Amino acid sequence: MQDTETSLPDISSVKIDLGERSYRIDIGSALLDQAASFSDLPRASTALIVTNTQVGPLYEVRLRTVLQGQFKQIHTVVLPDGEEHKGWETLNLIFNALLQNGCDRKTVMFALGGGVVGDMCGYAAASYMRGVPFVQVPTTLLAQVDSSVGGKTAINHPLGKNMIGAFYQPQRVVCDIDLLSTLPERELSAGLAEVIKYGPIADLDFLDWIETNIDSLMARDPVALTYAVRRSCEIKAWVVGQDEREAGLRAILNFGHTFGHAIESGLGYGAWLHGEAVGCGMVMAATLSERLGLIDSGFVKRLTRLIQRAHLPTRGPNLGAERYLELMRIDKKSEGGEIKFVLINRPGSATVRAAPDALVAEMLGECCTAS
Ligand code: NAD
Ligand code: GLY
Repeated sequence: MQDTETSLPDISSVKIDLGERSYRIDIGSALLDQAASFSDLPRASTALIVTNTQVGPLYEVRLRTVLQGQFKQIHTVVLPDGEEHKGWETLNLIFNALLQNGCDRKTVMFALGGGVVGDMCGYAAASYMRGVPFVQVPTTLLAQVDSSVGGKTAINHPLGKNMIGAFYQPQRVVCDIDLLSTLPERELSAGLAEVIKYGPIADLDFLDWIETNIDSLMARDPVALTYAVRRSCEIKAWVVGQDEREAGLRAILNFGHTFGHAIESGLGYGAWLHGEAVGCGMVMAATLSERLGLIDSGFVKRLTRLIQRAHLPTRGPNLGAERYLELMRIDKKSEGGEIKFVLINRPGSATVRAAPDALVAEMLGECCTAS
């Protein structure tokens, strides 16, 4: 088991190994202001910073300042904030900014924000002039441990979450832990859901470490946060390095997400945070694993307790089992209308498989609030 006392270098890098699409994830303090964080990027005269109304006022000037040595022109587009804006209309604001500012195909885009900004900036970068380089500067814990890494980019459709998108890798990910100091508490908890996720699916030592250090993480201890981001990125890099386009293994990273996405779209985007829905979805997926005889109830209780300690919900909204099933059939893992669940087949290891509707409905009845 790792201990947060382990002395970490100020900056650590995790490499994501994808041949010519390989890149590094820098993790540490004060990275936003260091030119080295943004060195060796493709050469270009123009940069476009994509941010939102919440993050822009906090960090845009600092990013612009550090990029000034490298780009003659730096433009910024400020998007409306929130999951409910992760759609076509907001995406078009990015294309408007690119075209109105005469951005060419060498323009480097910078996603400065959480997963919503990162996913939209990435999708715009994937499609503008058939692809321009982009850099992720994630400012939420969730984005640092998950969404900025691995090249999934997307927008939502009213009928389904992240349904329109592309696999498109960034050139660099810069995770400045200091930026998490301004994150609202609810968002910190949401990010912890994606940190916790890596334990049951891939690394029981990490699960032990999170249990030991959850209070330090909630208190934003920088050493604990740095370790959590680094270990999460290492696990994600290991998975994505083997299965970039989710032909198989990568689906395990969606543990809790099949139920979580149903909660998010069923309640309307933004009602529950993505991480909150994933936290609750992990309890549901673990409970289903137990009902299928894969794990014992002790492990479900252990995971539920940890999710509670991260101040995340562990009981789902009562959408009705039929509605859950209907929403989950739209999931990207579904095949021919059959829902595929990411389940724990033994603590520390995940599998993807179908389950009988009746069993899922029974489990939902027990895992959702009464009204
Ligand atoms: P988010 O981007 O909406 O950010 C959460 C909130 O925190 C927003 O209001 C944002 O403006 C604010 N914020 C961001 N950084 C801040 C800071 N440093 N200080 C103060 N406020 C700050 O949400 P999120 O949780 O980062 O990301 C969720 C999104 O990520 C979802 O759309 C989800 O689908 C997506 N996602 C994508 C992947 C992927 O692999 N691409 C993985 C997981 C999640
Ligand atoms: N967040 C799941 C994935 O990147 O595959």
